[in-house]
Amino acid sequence: MFYYLIRKLLFLIDPETAHILILKYLNSKHMQVLMNLFFKPIPSIPIKCMGLTFPNKVGLAAGMDKNGEYIDLFAKIGFGFIELGTVTPLPQLGNSKPRMFRVLSVEAIINRMGFNNLGIDNLIYNIKKSKFKGIIGVNIGKNQQTSIENAINDYLICIEKIYVYANYIVINISSPNTKNLRDLQYGVLFKNLLKNIKKKQKEMYHKHFKYVPIAIKISPDLSKDEIIYISDQLIKFKIDAVIATNTTLDHSSIHKIKNKIQGGLSGFPLQKKSNNVVAILYKLLKNKIPIIGVGGINSLNSAKEKMELGADLIQIYTGLVYHGPKFIRNIIKKL
Ligand SMILES: Cc1cc2nc3c(=O)[nH]c(=O)nc-3n(C[C@H](O)[C@H](O)[C@H](O)COP(=O)(O)O)c2cc1C
Repeated sequence: MFYYLIRKLLFLIDPETAHILILKYLNSKHMQVLMNLFFKPIPSIPIKCMGLTFPNKVGLAAGMDKNGEYIDLFAKIGFGFIELGTVTPLPQLGNSKPRMFRVLSVEAIINRMGFNNLGIDNLIYNIKKSKFKGIIGVNIGKNQQTSIENAINDYLICIEKIYVYANYIVINISSPNTKNLRDLQYGVLFKNLLKNIKKKQKEMYHKHFKYVPIAIKISPDLSKDEIIYISDQLIKFKIDAVIATNTTLDHSSIHKIKNKIQGGLSGFPLQKKSNNVVAILYKLLKNKIPIIGVGGINSLNSAKEKMELGADLIQIYTGLVYHGPKFIRNIIKKL
């Protein structure tokens, strides 16, 4: 109820400004006191995935807290894991504004942020500062000015820097808002990427005596053959998990409502597409590699459906924007 009142005001202003304002507000001292009163810790129902023990199956999807400024706030909401980023080796501004749009009638968001972030060093600083002792994933990408041929270097730089601070690392090759990024999902580029990140992971393991799992985040716009190819490679290179999916460039489901806004579509219109990828992956991977399902979760039933289709864990972004923290807590308690 309280969130829906705040939402009324928030939805009167530009989405990106609203995003910043609500996080700052929820993080303010007096809201923290209220949250401590109303948001008691949710008893954990531990689940093993990627060799880690998660307190519950519901995580915050990447992009909400790109710079790790609100880790303790999201922990208080009850998320079992928090995925920060996407961060890049160097800070960058991202695409020009406006770059985030609501599609109210279908509970969706279109974004073309373009990896706006303060860089990996700043993220490390914020992780060190946070009190959260739970599971932190760090989602990494390439800088805008790095060519796709040299993209691997950016991922390797980030893995090296973040290795001891992250519980798991995500290679984001599926954002539609960085030119040619999705090319990394195909053919030789994909194979080379996997080969090099596994090599780096091994090197880091020997250096720090700590194994940090690495997941690959994929797009919902892949064909079945492309998913088959990706699955084969994930198995071949012993990748620790796959995250399905990022936002979609397919706007056909909303073309009558919102036309000609470029960017990745998330929320309810993504649900079916994303579920389809999870279902295909589940058949192909045969439990050899865990699946983290994300895309369009807007109710307890849709969360359950994603798990039934084969997801081991789930993540939420747009559902939180439309329904607030209590919605998340309800899913955590009842899933
Ligand atoms: C405004 C916005 C920014 C996002 N930024 C990122 C990002 O930086 N990295 C990433 O991997 N995914 C990003 N995503 C995608 C989400 O993590 C998620 O995969 C997608 O939105 C589908 O989930 P949802 O329907 O619950 O929102 C972003 C999504 C939104 C709406």
